[in-house]
Amino acid sequence: MTDLPAQKLLYIKTYGCQMNVYDSERMTDILRPLGYGVTETPENADLVVLNTCHIREKATEKVYSELGVLRRLKEDKASSGGQMTIAVAGCVAQAEGSEIMRRQSAVDFVLGPQSYHRLPEMIARAHRASGEVLAADFAADEKFDALPLERQPGGVTAFLTVQEGCDKFCTFCVVPYTRGAEYSRPVEAVLAEARGLAAQGVREITLLGQNVNAYGAGREEGGLAGLVERLAQISGLDRIRYTTSHPRDMDEALIAAHGTQAALMPYLHLPVQSGSDKILKAMNRDHTAADYLALIERIRAARPDIALSGDFIVGFPGETEADFEATLDLVRATRYASAFTFKYSRRPGTPASGMGAQIDEAVKDERLARLNALLEDQQKAFNAAMVGRTVPVLIEREGRHAGQILGRSPYLQAVHAEGPKSLIGQIVPIRIEAAARMSLSGVLATVPA
Ligand code: SAH
Ligand code: SF4
Ligand code: F3S
Repeated sequence: MTDLPAQKLLYIKTYGCQMNVYDSERMTDILRPLGYGVTETPENADLVVLNTCHIREKATEKVYSELGVLRRLKEDKASSGGQMTIAVAGCVAQAEGSEIMRRQSAVDFVLGPQSYHRLPEMIARAHRASGEVLAADFAADEKFDALPLERQPGGVTAFLTVQEGCDKFCTFCVVPYTRGAEYSRPVEAVLAEARGLAAQGVREITLLGQNVNAYGAGREEGGLAGLVERLAQISGLDRIRYTTSHPRDMDEALIAAHGTQAALMPYLHLPVQSGSDKILKAMNRDHTAADYLALIERIRAARPDIALSGDFIVGFPGETEADFEATLDLVRATRYASAFTFKYSRRPGTPASGMGAQIDEAVKDERLARLNALLEDQQKAFNAAMVGRTVPVLIEREGRHAGQILGRSPYLQAVHAEGPKSLIGQIVPIRIEAAARMSLSGVLATVPA
């Protein structure tokens, strides 16, 4: 299909996780053949899509304040004879549905994460100002079947969603309600998309899923490890990552793959949330702190240098000082390379929101600061240990300063060095000379014999 020249402007703003980033790219892909070109500012946009996140209260509130700003822009545009269509997509759309339009009448339509293939139809309906204004299907297979195959990757790395939804029902979390049941895309569909990306110069793919390591559960093809093995055979595709994983789904084959598949990068995001068994049980995590530590030990036995990352929640209902200290103990025992930390946020409709013993904000703040301080020390130590080593870096783009190039180490650290931009897309050895908490710097080295 040949695309129409871009006549209309699309402004798409993405909140939340990497799966939303992927979905926003795919929405852009669907709209491109219809003549929509991307604009970086909303003022002149014909179509505005907010791809939203519902995970914490703050994330949801941001959407409503952004909609207030957009309402004024829409009115300005209308007063000069123009038109702006406003759509709300993503997890707030799925969770709140047409309630969003009651709260903010400037919104033209609302569509949930499994309905993006219906975007053109919804735009047409909005223009006719008639008919259905809410698309909130729950069938993930339909979404992927109906999305166009062609993608326009923005660089040498790309996201690829292979799994959606969640059946775990952690008691704090909205995802099972916003993204529906666990669904894995067929292996062949994933391979076809990956081959297309590699043909366009993508060298690193990050496989995405809310529970990506549950990929292919119950099928005979070998789960995520089997998929990685197939992907590693695609020529040009040198690096494979995946996120996010649940400790319960970390099977033997996947652990072994970290030791045997050279393309599988030594980095693993494995959220644990808490180090207290009492809290883990109340969270419905289905593992203990000891289970998690034993798992980490097995993973390190397969790949000793693996960089570990995690998610933590402080101030879950009923969390005592002793429970929190158990989290600090688990962190000390694990030694993380990076981490994401959150204060518990009460989400309407989730079991934890109704639990007694909600924790004071001040206590949450204090615990968060202590946890962050410990994790920052660990991150600095992990990075500092790289100084003097030579690591293969996939160069992704030019740096902020002239003559600087920027890429990532196998451990997902940002690395910058002086070098020509002709190296973008190549994996080059860089000798690390300095380390900060968030990045490394070094010089181009020749490959050691
Ligand atoms: N499926 C992934 C990611 C889910 S959302 C997983 O299970 O790891 C990403 C992170 O947000 C979670 O790991 C959790 O740490 C955090 N989170 C989810 N709900 C939250 C809530 N109600 N309050 C605070 N943090 C939350
Ligand atoms: Fe949410 Fe738990 Fe599912 Fe992760 S595993 S998406 S935290 S319910
Ligand atoms: Fe947010 Fe939905 Fe992702 S709630 S974190 S955008 S799955």
